[in-house]
Amino acid sequence: MISSHENYDSSPKFAQTADDADPLRKFRGHFQFPDKFNNLEPVYLTGNSLGLMPKNARRYVEQELDDWAKYAVEGHTNAKHPWLPYHEFVTEPMARVVGAKPIETVVMNSLTVNLHLLMVSFYRPTSDRFKIVIEKGAFPSDRYAVESQLKFHGYGNTGLVELAPRDGEATLRTEDIVGAIDRDGDSIALILLGGVNYYTGQAFEMKAITEVGHRNGCVVGFDCAHAAGNLELKLHDWDVDFAAWCSYKYLNAGPGGIAGIFVHERHARSFELPRFAGWWGHDKETRFLMGPNFVPLEGAEGWQISNPPILQLAALRASLEIFDEATMPALRAKSEKLTGFLAFLLNQLSDERISIITPNDPEQRGCQLSIRMRNSDKSLFDSITSRGVFADWREPGVIRVAPVPLYNTFDDVYRFVAILESCLEKR
Ligand SMILES: Cc1ncc(COP(=O)(O)O)c(C=O)c1O
Repeated sequence: MISSHENYDSSPKFAQTADDADPLRKFRGHFQFPDKFNNLEPVYLTGNSLGLMPKNARRYVEQELDDWAKYAVEGHTNAKHPWLPYHEFVTEPMARVVGAKPIETVVMNSLTVNLHLLMVSFYRPTSDRFKIVIEKGAFPSDRYAVESQLKFHGYGNTGLVELAPRDGEATLRTEDIVGAIDRDGDSIALILLGGVNYYTGQAFEMKAITEVGHRNGCVVGFDCAHAAGNLELKLHDWDVDFAAWCSYKYLNAGPGGIAGIFVHERHARSFELPRFAGWWGHDKETRFLMGPNFVPLEGAEGWQISNPPILQLAALRASLEIFDEATMPALRAKSEKLTGFLAFLLNQLSDERISIITPNDPEQRGCQLSIRMRNSDKSLFDSITSRGVFADWREPGVIRVAPVPLYNTFDDVYRFVAILESCLEKR
């Protein structure tokens, strides 16, 4: 396969050759693509929003439906994959995806719920140190969550620090993030950034940010919704305190799929931290003795509250098996080339109506490129959509496209840009 530094060229033959040489090409066949519409073959580039369905997901979910029919309540212990420990079947593969130890990872609830639960433990404001740092333009749910935590603790918006790009720039510079934290560090309780910003596609330097945060005595957490299954994360090695992510984007676990959390091993036995408790976070040996006193499990599992949704876990299990086979390093290697090819073709168009706001440096982005439309004109997005492209539009004026290395091809990228070009020419 082409190396990321090799010159791309804009011929269809180039895309074909790259696909033929792709060591991951068989994985496309493991996924269900949406139906044709208007007789057009879809070009699916929205794995950053909802990942495609692994074909095995149906079988895995049906297995649980069959076992529910066959065993009813006994399925908790007698199902082929017993429901009582079912979440444990995905712990290790999920930990591998995010660069964590199994004790640091668990799947539970949904993303924003988990951010709240983790802030209950890891946002511990004092009168001097109470601020929360987020990126300006963070996903709205994160901002709502952070603002409501500040209010809950009696701080108004004075506690909210939003890091903004320099005037005229679309993305943040690491040196500015580091500078702001060094400057304001004494008053910052928590830094909570996206691993990858949902709008710009910028990947933040999580290791450097964690280092500067810790140097200043802050807790550092990340929303990895757009990073998990996209970047090669090393949450443990980078010393991140906590992270949370959803599984319906790059992790292909289906709409509303069960989410994941990471809590660094050094907090595994921090039982003095406040936490919202529930029976699924209670010691497994004594859970069914139904005693009145909560005894938390060690590690991330201790943050669980409720027994998990087995049908969602089954779908996630199907997807994570594919990740284990493909491996994150190989996926990331292909992703850099695929997105590099997309950037190359878009730049070749050199049309002033469109501009890429995602950083050009592959280290500072994942799969996604965000294409800003001049004057926030949405009509180009509507045109490409009617021609079979699955991209998405994010207000106020960006088309997001994400070629996903598990199931997208160089040919998908080529076809997308050809459609885009022809729609631009017609206008
Ligand atoms: C970065 C980010 N944070 C939070 C959310 C909200 O996720 P949920 O609805 O699962 O809480 C999303 C959803 O797309 C997201 O992209």
